[in-house]
Amino acid sequence: MMSRFSDVALGPPIEVFALTKAFVEDTFPQKINLGVGAYRTDEGKPWVLPVVREVEKLLATDETRNKEYLPILGLEAFTNAATSMLLGHNSPALLEKRAFGIQCLSGTGALRVGAEFLASQLGSKIFYFSAPSWENHNLVFTNAGFKEGRQYRYWCAKTRGLDIDGLLQDLSEAPENSVIILHTCAHNPTGCDPTQEQWKQIADVMEKKRLFPFLDCAYQGFASGDLEKDSWAVRYFVSRGFELFCAQSFAKNFGLYNERVGNLTVVLNNLSNQQAVKSQFTLLVRGMYSNPPLHGASIVSRVLSDPKLFEQWKSHIRTMSSRIISMRKALREALEKNNTPGNWSHITSQIGMFSYTGLNEQQSVHMVKKHHIYMLKSGRINMSGMKSTDIEYIAQAIKETLTNVH
Ligand SMILES: Cc1ncc(COP(=O)(O)O)c(C=O)c1O
Repeated sequence: MMSRFSDVALGPPIEVFALTKAFVEDTFPQKINLGVGAYRTDEGKPWVLPVVREVEKLLATDETRNKEYLPILGLEAFTNAATSMLLGHNSPALLEKRAFGIQCLSGTGALRVGAEFLASQLGSKIFYFSAPSWENHNLVFTNAGFKEGRQYRYWCAKTRGLDIDGLLQDLSEAPENSVIILHTCAHNPTGCDPTQEQWKQIADVMEKKRLFPFLDCAYQGFASGDLEKDSWAVRYFVSRGFELFCAQSFAKNFGLYNERVGNLTVVLNNLSNQQAVKSQFTLLVRGMYSNPPLHGASIVSRVLSDPKLFEQWKSHIRTMSSRIISMRKALREALEKNNTPGNWSHITSQIGMFSYTGLNEQQSVHMVKKHHIYMLKSGRINMSGMKSTDIEYIAQAIKETLTNVH
């Protein structure tokens, strides 16, 4: 029978989800999933943070709670707490009320809402993202109405570090008002961040060229275990007087992946524009999903506003970040002990959940096919995907791959 859908083209699969499906279907007993973008314990299990469980029990038994709609821009207790966690309680932008938050559907939703606003209200057309970047930036900004996505140089394969000269040159050649997506910490996928000195250079170019910073903060506290350290770049840009957006995700640092808890922090340099800007965000969200969900935002706002729960949560982020750091050390040691070809110092100098191993596409595919170690074609691995007991197997597999596949 004729169908109006027969001309719909089959889209390409999304690599990380396809990889997880292949992993689940693999019957090999020693299979390891280093492709997934979520934290795992040393037993290889997802971790619901104990403080999250505790707050969920409190919420479940609280008879005063109801199921009424939230305001269009979200739960204020949440957006205020999230914004001050990002900018610091004493941030002049907050005290002067030039900064505010919009509750969004996790980090992705915050990027989308912010990008739609820029495209529709400011007429933004060109966005820049790092080469490489989180694979979804391009799709989110394109679908939000931007006309052109360009990449700025970021990763230098030779040094396995940041190509700061390439980055600065590309930004200095960007047209005025271009939107620049910057990962605030724990760059995904490379695990390689600019130093404070390099951030200053980036800010100098962006100020001179009048570029708009759209910061992406998906790992605050999760990267180093320290909330202040992981938000340094955002606070620095605000202190320099930039107007900016910052998408915050609570997926990783609270382990609330499927609750979709996010905040878009908006920093303006003039309070008088705040009402109009908020009114346009309100129309935008109203026409997209009307208003956000309550559950995850309640958990985060409770934890951030209660000193005891807050301390408990901070110990959880230290647990997660230190497990990742110890896996980095152990993998590097095993690779070096086995005389694996190449230099492995980048494994411990990178930060956050992901490491860019330096394995090329054929080598990464070989790791999956021969060793049942699932990783992205780019060579990205999730350090928390490995258990201590997996390290030797993974190191041997990398050595075999590098020796036999070029
Ligand atoms: C750099 C970056 N931005 C944004 C996100 C958004 O994630 P979510 O929408 O789950 O908060 C991620 C998640 O992996 C990420 O790595």
